Amino acid sequence: MFHTSYIEINKSALKSNLRFLKRLAGPDVRFCSVVKGNAYGHGIEHFVPLAEACGVDTFGVHSADEALRTHMAKKKKSSHVMIMGMIDDDELSWAVENDVSFYVFEFERLNAAVHAAKKQNRKARIHVELETGMNRIGFQWEDRDKLADHLVRNLDHLELTGVSTHYAGAESIANYLRIQNQIANFNRYQWYLRKKGARARLRHTACSAPLVSYPHTKMDMVRVGIMQYGFWPSKETFMQYITQTEKKRMTDNPLRQLISWKSKIMSIKHVPAGEFVGYGTVYQTTDDTLIAAIPVGYCHGFSRSLSNLGKVLIHGRRVPVIGMVNMNMMIADVSHCPGVKKGDEVVMVGSQRNNRITVSSFSDMINHVNYETLVRLPKEIPRHIID
Ligand SMILES: Cc1ncc(COP(=O)(O)O)c(C=O)c1O
Repeated sequence: MFHTSYIEINKSALKSNLRFLKRLAGPDVRFCSVVKGNAYGHGIEHFVPLAEACGVDTFGVHSADEALRTHMAKKKKSSHVMIMGMIDDDELSWAVENDVSFYVFEFERLNAAVHAAKKQNRKARIHVELETGMNRIGFQWEDRDKLADHLVRNLDHLELTGVSTHYAGAESIANYLRIQNQIANFNRYQWYLRKKGARARLRHTACSAPLVSYPHTKMDMVRVGIMQYGFWPSKETFMQYITQTEKKRMTDNPLRQLISWKSKIMSIKHVPAGEFVGYGTVYQTTDDTLIAAIPVGYCHGFSRSLSNLGKVLIHGRRVPVIGMVNMNMMIADVSHCPGVKKGDEVVMVGSQRNNRITVSSFSDMINHVNYETLVRLPKEIPRHIID
């Protein structure tokens, strides 16, 4: 197989998640699929055409390199790519030429966008990002007159595709007041620009958590990342959803995780009682133990913090990872898997027989958020689409 593990992406799970999310967003709200971080580890080249086949036509990325990959991966000419973060001035011409829209959040970039548009003799499609309280990037309220003036003066060179902001942690109720302030600040700012003649086509502020918890932030477009891949932004967001619906049972989760991650046993051997396994003394056998070596380690995204802690599925059982997770390998105790042999399937994430290991369960063990666990899966691991 030339690789020690592989990832499966489930198409029917994506279809079902998108159906649910589009219903949640409502009929008049545009859906932007966020594919930054290598499509949250799912692989831009695999995910983008799959999402297009499920009806998605707008993709949000962080940077110009991801935009280029998404642009190359998309199969439909009409699909649109939006850069929500970093693009260098000398890449702006490429964006303008290819109709890739991008955020502007400071005057320097605004001027560079106008310059690139003039050079290409076509309009630059921009999203004006407003600072509303996240204190990251975005135009300050104090700059509103200068901004409105710049935008209006350059309407021959700029298409105001969007006006946007991002919330500072809508997945946690601890940030409730801050989010409410941001919503008010955004509304005030975008109305001001509108009144001055700088009217953007799409107002967009909501990612996954606000879509559920602050439905009035949906506006004209939602930018959804984590939920389309089948994960709730936080347990709080899921609880909030459950209490809003009639079903009200924790088992009524409408989201399905797309990703499974699998490998196979590379070697099996017996270790007598009282021996240390692997590097150092972190694990000592108490009984005669059957161990399986699995060719996956921290260089593949299986965190070293899962040493003596992680679980994998073999023969449908959750078996413990024992000793240190190495760079390319880990050891599992398979003493309770009768008939286990070299070549048997190992599931790091996903289902086997009646058992399942979710990304969340392994993120929880090492205090990672799902976002981080997913994006740590290297690009090189092959991805396969399954129905
Ligand atoms: C600007 C912006 N919009 C949308 C998203 C998608 O967020 P989520 O994955 O929580 O839906 C992100 C991700 O962090 C983002 O930075």
